[in-house]
Amino acid sequence: EQWERGGHEHFMHKEMHEQPETLQRMLSGRLDDRFATARLDGLQLEPRELRAFRRVKVLGCGSAYYVGQMGASMIEDLARIPADAEAASEFRYRNPIIEPDTLYVAVSQSGETADTLFAVREIQRKGGRVVGLVNVVGSSIARECDGGVYLHAGPEVAVASTKALTHMGIGFALLAVALGRVRDLSFADGQRIINGLKQIPDQVGEILEQEDAIATVAKRIADAQSMFFVGRVRGYPVAREGAQKLKEISYRHAEAYQTSELKHGPLALISPELPTVAIVPDDELLDRNLGACHEIAARRGPLVVVTHEGVELGDLRGDRIDVPRNEPELDPLLLTIPLQLLAYHAALALGHDIDKPRNLAKSVTVE
Ligand code: AGP
Repeated sequence: EQWERGGHEHFMHKEMHEQPETLQRMLSGRLDDRFATARLDGLQLEPRELRAFRRVKVLGCGSAYYVGQMGASMIEDLARIPADAEAASEFRYRNPIIEPDTLYVAVSQSGETADTLFAVREIQRKGGRVVGLVNVVGSSIARECDGGVYLHAGPEVAVASTKALTHMGIGFALLAVALGRVRDLSFADGQRIINGLKQIPDQVGEILEQEDAIATVAKRIADAQSMFFVGRVRGYPVAREGAQKLKEISYRHAEAYQTSELKHGPLALISPELPTVAIVPDDELLDRNLGACHEIAARRGPLVVVTHEGVELGDLRGDRIDVPRNEPELDPLLLTIPLQLLAYHAALALGHDIDKPRNLAKSVTVE
């Protein structure tokens, strides 16, 4: 097993550090510079069919659901069709309306998550078309979907998913460009996203190089019994995933909120004992996000601000983690990477079994 970990102390560590290479592999052959689009032959959908969808519904569980939320917002941004994500575990129990002009997307690392598989079957029983974003080749979800995109992240052993999630995010970006380019997404905007995607593997590498600094922050917050992760719009699924990762392996309570919702209740909990990890990209919501950080600081809440290089934080006290800039639609993918390291190093400081956290299994094959 030590050999399989390739010199890393944990599989999770190995898998985080594999990302620049595996992402490069996933992208190669899928970016089409000539038409500024993505080549996704596995979807088995002609441009004419892709164009006919009027809505996208993403289904996944846990972290796959949160990345699905990121993906839905990429699809709305780039293809301008309504898209949302839902927990696959709830889907069939609410007698969902299945529409023939909706593209259903099942997202799963293992391809064996029972809740997601049953959602696929429910959709198909009612005549819907469902494609998969799946990592494990030949898995049940991959086999049963009507087409799909393999994530090519390679085997993922650690229960806490890292590289497979980043690959899912890339998969959604490719899907969003493909859907966009048969609609209103211009050649120039298609090119902009394709060029942004090309930069991702190296930019992930740059973030991983900050590991020592992030580990110092993680040690500082690991003692807190409870933590908030906050973000807005594109940053909210990032916050949800950050909280999830921390809970899974550090066993600390972490809760994600939309930053805008803080003042509607949770602000009452802010105190020196409750750190907040704030996702603050340099986008149109920057001032509002910074305003919320000041509200937290005024109540003496410790802050970790995950932001872009060059963002001016003024007199805000706390820790900052910078990620490189990409295109705004793709930024959530990069903002998530430091949160993987943060959770890993918090769990390490607390001495937990990082690869096999208590009560959890790598793939949940029962309902
Ligand atoms: C991620 O860190 C978790 N272990 C968990 O939420 C996972 O993403 C979920 O169970 C879905 O698994 P899947 O991607 O294999 O379907």
